[in-house]
Amino acid sequence: MAIKRNQNPQQRNTSHDTNDKELLITQPTTQEKDNLEESIRPHSFDEYIGQQDLKAVLSIVIEAAKTRNEPMDHLLLYGPPGLGKTTISLILASAMGVNCKITAAPALERPRDITGLLVNLKPGDILFIDEIHRLNRLTEELLYPAMEDYRLEITIGKGQAARTRRIPLPRFTLVGATTKVGALTSPLRDRFGLIQRLKFYEPEELALIIKRTAKLLKTSITEPGALEIGRRSRGTPRIANRLLRRVRDYIQVKKFDTITQELAAQALDIYQVDPQGLDWTDRLILDTMITQFNGGPVGLEAVAAATGEDAKTIEEVYEPYLLQIGYLNRTPRGRVVTPTAYQHLGKTGEEQLSIFSDQ
Ligand code: ADE
Repeated sequence: MAIKRNQNPQQRNTSHDTNDKELLITQPTTQEKDNLEESIRPHSFDEYIGQQDLKAVLSIVIEAAKTRNEPMDHLLLYGPPGLGKTTISLILASAMGVNCKITAAPALERPRDITGLLVNLKPGDILFIDEIHRLNRLTEELLYPAMEDYRLEITIGKGQAARTRRIPLPRFTLVGATTKVGALTSPLRDRFGLIQRLKFYEPEELALIIKRTAKLLKTSITEPGALEIGRRSRGTPRIANRLLRRVRDYIQVKKFDTITQELAAQALDIYQVDPQGLDWTDRLILDTMITQFNGGPVGLEAVAAATGEDAKTIEEVYEPYLLQIGYLNRTPRGRVVTPTAYQHLGKTGEEQLSIFSDQ
C-alpha cells in the first residue's frame, strides 16, 4: 500500500510501497509508529477480530454494492478511540478493490483542502475523514452536494457578482469517524446512509487480538497471559497492543521467554495499569470526584479543573470506559461515582476533604 502523506503544509510528500493501493495520511505521525501500526493491522474481515454485528452489516453492504457495481453508501462510524475505525475503512477499501484516502477534520482548514482531495478521487474510492465532528462550516457545506450528488459547488466572487461553479466528482464513498456522534450537525449526519457504532471489546476478544499481534511480533505468550493483558486493556485493541509491547519489554529485560499470566500482571502493575485496566488518570479522576466532590454529582468542567486534565480528554477518552464498566453514572446534575468504583478503589465514602465535609 503506497502511503502518501501530506495536505499538511509543514509536511513533505513521502511514500513507501506495500501494495498497489494508495493511502493518503494527512495527520502527522512518526514513521516508526506508522510502520508498527501498519504491520499489525488486519487487512480483511477474516483477520479482523470482534465487532461481529458491524462486520455482518458491512459484509452485506459490500456484496450488494459490488453486485450493482456501485460505490458503497456513505458510512459514519462512531465510538470511543482505538476501537478500529480506520482499520475498518481500510478493510472496506480492500474488499471493494478501491483506494482509501485518509485525512482528519483538523487538516481540512481551508476549502481547497477538501476540494483538492475530492477532485483527485478515482471512481469508487473511499475518503476517510477522522474526527468528522470537527469540520468547519465551509468545509462541511462543500461536502453536502459532494455526498449527495457527487459534485462540488464553488462560489466565485461576492454579492451580486457571485457565481456558482459546479464541478462533477467521481462517485465515491465517504467514511466519517467520530467519538462524538451527537456533535455532528444533523444535515451532515443525515447524508450518511449507514451509521454504525463500534463497541468495546470483550477481554476474550482482546486476548485473541493480543495472541495474533504477539505472533506477528514473534513473542511467545500463554492463553492466561493474553487474557490478563486483555482484561487490563479497557476494551480497546489499541491499548491491548500497547500493553503487549510493554509486557514484551518487561520479559525481555527480566530474561524470560514467554509471557505468562504472572509476568503480565507483574509488568502491568509496574506500569500502574490495575486488574480492571484503570490507569493513573482514571484513578485520579475517580479519586478527585470522591475526595473533593463527595462522589458527585459534579460537572465535567469542575472535574477537569480539579484534576488538571483537559475536559475533552476526560469526556472522550476516560469517561466512556468508566461508564461502560459501571464506575461512573451520568445524571442531569452531573457525574456520579458508583458504589462499585468505591469498592474497587477501597474507599468507604468518608474520604472527602474536611473543607467539604459539612456539605
Ligand atoms: N489489531 C487491532 N485491532 C484488531 C482487530 N479487531 N482484529 C485483529 N487485530 C487487530
